[in-house]
Amino acid sequence: MNIQENISLKAFNTFGIDKIARFFTIARTVESLKEAITWAKHQGIKPLILGGGSNILLTQNLNTLVIKIEIDGIEVIEETQEFYFVEVGAGVIWHEFVLKSIENNWAGIENLSLIPGTVGASPMQNIGAYGVEIKDVFHSLKALNRETLQMEQFEGLQCQFGYRESVFKHELKGNYVICSVIFQLRKKPEYHTEYGAIQETLENLGVKELSLRAISNAVIAIRQSKLPDPKEIGNAGSFFKNPTITSDHYQFLKNIYPSIPGYPTLEGIKVPAAWLIEQCGWKGKRFGEIGIHAKQPLVLVNYGDGEGEDIKALALQIQQSVFEKFQVEIHPEVNFL
Ligand code: FAD
Ligand code: EPU
Repeated sequence: MNIQENISLKAFNTFGIDKIARFFTIARTVESLKEAITWAKHQGIKPLILGGGSNILLTQNLNTLVIKIEIDGIEVIEETQEFYFVEVGAGVIWHEFVLKSIENNWAGIENLSLIPGTVGASPMQNIGAYGVEIKDVFHSLKALNRETLQMEQFEGLQCQFGYRESVFKHELKGNYVICSVIFQLRKKPEYHTEYGAIQETLENLGVKELSLRAISNAVIAIRQSKLPDPKEIGNAGSFFKNPTITSDHYQFLKNIYPSIPGYPTLEGIKVPAAWLIEQCGWKGKRFGEIGIHAKQPLVLVNYGDGEGEDIKALALQIQQSVFEKFQVEIHPEVNFL
């Protein structure tokens, strides 16, 4: 175990925020993860678990041990007539796993192409895009109990997946380190092309016959057309979740703002936060080193030397203005540290 001191986290978060970790180590195996947690216990500190840093906002130096998870491995552990059961190490880069699945004709995650981050973080907020969430292909996960250092297995229901939610963000927050995830991927694809601009993009790309790769390419093209690449402009994807409001509230708003988009769900009407934020005049605004992306107002950006505290303050202003105009609360998707 190699513990480094006073390490800048700028390269380890996609917002590119320059905060310091008092201690820093990389865990490539479950054994080294256990060692690092035990070391931290002796120091009286609670370590912070880091994947690709694509869903965090650093607002302060971290006076603790940051453990970056790089546990590797992609293995088919079982096969039935319908499914491959694939166990994937928490440190595997999500999009690399998607590409490997496409190569092997393992179907189910092609719509989730190009989402940044690691496989281990994917259940944390039940990542989703273009009509698919990981709960749709999830079998179980193995997680290390940080107190007992025992490995425990969680099935789908135990994870309490919801829209950008899981039990690991709530009751079990900070209690477990996810070490591997087992996915249930189809042998015979079930294509999902109904969402957003997928169909139109497939046509534009000249696709005659659907395939996992064609869908993946379409999703990649759409994402690249609207989301900023963190390598060029710091960001963490959607900063806020899309809110769900009651039908009455939606009707009330629709009378005043006839163009307000809304999508019925079991809980009410989901309204795009991007639309609400744009209507409040934030789209494309820049304040020094930080701002709101010009193509997608749900994405807050760091142009270079922005501070996490300033992004947090901007987010609060945006939330307040949306509430004042529409009486709708929008909540961050990003994890503040
Ligand atoms: P990190 O940011 O490192 O960590 C996120 C949280 O999970 C932290 O609280 C961390 O402590 C915890 N954590 C990380 N790994 C583990 C582990 N192994 N065990 C326990 N806890 C852990 N998300 C979507 O759902 N859909 C999208 O379409 C999408 N698009 C994005 C586009 C861009 C350009 C960006 C920058 C982000 C996007 N995101 C999207 C958000 C992000 O990619 C996901 O939330 C991703 O799963 C985060 O993975 P990570 O490894 O970077 O996690
Ligand atoms: N919109 C505007 N103005 C804009 C852009 C969008 O008003 O400039 C409105 C439009 O009505 C549009 C709607 O917002 O139809 C939805 O926009 P988009 O399709 O870009 O999706 P989103 O709701 O902004 C969500 C996820 C993304 C995911 C995409 C595709 C959330 C919080 N975000 O974005 O996830 O990739 O759908 O499924 O649910 C992330 O979580 O980080 C993320 C990027």
